[in-house]
Amino acid sequence: MDMNEEEAAEVADKFKEESVESFRNKQRRRSSIQAPRIIDPNRRTSSVSNESCSSYTGSSSDEEGINPREKTQKSSAGFTDFCVRNIEIHSVGRKEIEIAEQIDMCGLMALRRRAKTDKPLHGAKIIGCTHITPQMAVLIETLIALGAQVRWAACNIYSTQNVVAAALAEAGVSIFAWKGESEEDFWWCIDKAIHADNWQANIILDDGGDATHHMLKKYPTAFSMLKGIVEESVTGVHRLYQLSKTQKLVAPAMNVNDSVMKTKFDAFYCCRESVVDALKRATDVMLGGKHVLVCGYGEVGKGVSAALKAVGCHVMVTEIDPICAIQACMDGIRVVKISDAVGSVDIVISCTGNKNVVTKEHMDSMKNGCIVCNMGHSNTEIDVNALKNATELTWERVRSQVDHVIWPNGKRIILLAEGRLVNMSCTTLPSLVISIAACTQALALIELFVAPTGRYKNDVYLLPKKMDEYVATLHLSVFQARLTELSEEQARYLGLNKSGPFKPNYYRY
Ligand SMILES: NC(=O)c1ccc[n+]([C@@H]2O[C@H](COP(=O)([O-])OP(=O)(O)OC[C@H]3O[C@@H](n4cnc5c(N)ncnc54)[C@H](O)[C@@H]3O)[C@@H](O)[C@H]2O)c1
Repeated sequence: MDMNEEEAAEVADKFKEESVESFRNKQRRRSSIQAPRIIDPNRRTSSVSNESCSSYTGSSSDEEGINPREKTQKSSAGFTDFCVRNIEIHSVGRKEIEIAEQIDMCGLMALRRRAKTDKPLHGAKIIGCTHITPQMAVLIETLIALGAQVRWAACNIYSTQNVVAAALAEAGVSIFAWKGESEEDFWWCIDKAIHADNWQANIILDDGGDATHHMLKKYPTAFSMLKGIVEESVTGVHRLYQLSKTQKLVAPAMNVNDSVMKTKFDAFYCCRESVVDALKRATDVMLGGKHVLVCGYGEVGKGVSAALKAVGCHVMVTEIDPICAIQACMDGIRVVKISDAVGSVDIVISCTGNKNVVTKEHMDSMKNGCIVCNMGHSNTEIDVNALKNATELTWERVRSQVDHVIWPNGKRIILLAEGRLVNMSCTTLPSLVISIAACTQALALIELFVAPTGRYKNDVYLLPKKMDEYVATLHLSVFQARLTELSEEQARYLGLNKSGPFKPNYYRY
């Protein structure tokens, strides 16, 4: 359901673009991406481990030592309401955040400068559950600059950058996240973000729906007092629509996942830029000439396929949707059934948002050395549990995020990030795409927070087109792009307002 365009435009107009000239000469890409480290926490060794184990031995982590939950840590100002791997490394994280602020994050920074005096989020108490990266830190600190109080946890056990979490804690942010959390740690961290003394959150910013559902289940009274939920992922939005259907949604929710800018940039452009990097960092594989099977030809699958084709891979895709399948055909890509192709390819990448797409049976028939990884939100796309439970298989940790799973006949597959988001786990993402997603999230949060009672019902809403266009405008300066303005006559001819929106809601970009 769409919100009233004019009402939403009020918020967008309030933060009209200010000069971002200072960013124009700063188009260097980040060069400080973390290389995967070679540490197996389960064996408490910091060298490459080729030691075989007869079964799966635990999750990956790039840090060894005591569980952060058992440590007492303090910021230099004496702040203790956080739990990160090691606060001592905060200055490295601060530099990472500063780099992100200056390269490509111009949209958020413009929003921060513009709205700092208005403080539109004054009184907002936000529970955040997202990936913890330098770019997300820019969002978190922007929300604080706009007047919000926040408590934050990670939405993925591998993607937290410890230096960034440390920098946020040092800056006084209540953050509970570290790279290599166990499943139990994961829920403990989310619980800490939701539940604290003298804290009643009024908004959730979620990526995957875990914080939303944890709060609904464990703290239903607090949940019923929310003003809104902003959700970032396909999976989380799906869960929100289910809540809405069963009348369990107690506050309006904004589906930012399906905003045009988020869809195009966070999924397509981001995955197109990061998949090759992730595969190379994890495995050093030469991609040219390799046969790759991409499961799912939605936004993510299209980005992944385009990048791999561009470096010389032979790409095939699987699809359940005839429209996406025919798009693949038009793009020159063969559409196959997974069972027909999986035995002959060098790399399998799942991008569906579905579960059990790559099963143990499929992996049984893969050839020796096949690389298997997932670009979808959930770690159930590849049935890693079946691999973990199969007593005949041997797991060998090669390095952080890279496991050999070995069959009794010696055949091995190379499983990346234990089937979790490979680009988030094995590399970092481009600042610009994250700035776009983050700007969209910030505007959605502001809209839900400042909306007068009655503007939204307890339902799931899409971001209005005007806000999407505003997010795009904020980022055009990075490319020194100059928009053409409609003349009065042209605007009349097309039946448009000169300042937008320029397309109807049903327009497909
Ligand atoms: N890695 C990242 O950086 C990143 C970025 C954005 C989204 N995501 C995640 O990637 C997943 C896909 O996102 P999307 O935006 O491409 O969604 P989408 O809905 O556009 O595409 C998914 C496609 O998979 C197809 N599909 C579903 N089940 C299938 C099956 N069993 N076999 C073959 N195809 C199947 C669907 O028909 C659809 O076309 C989601 O989980 C999303 O949260 C990841």
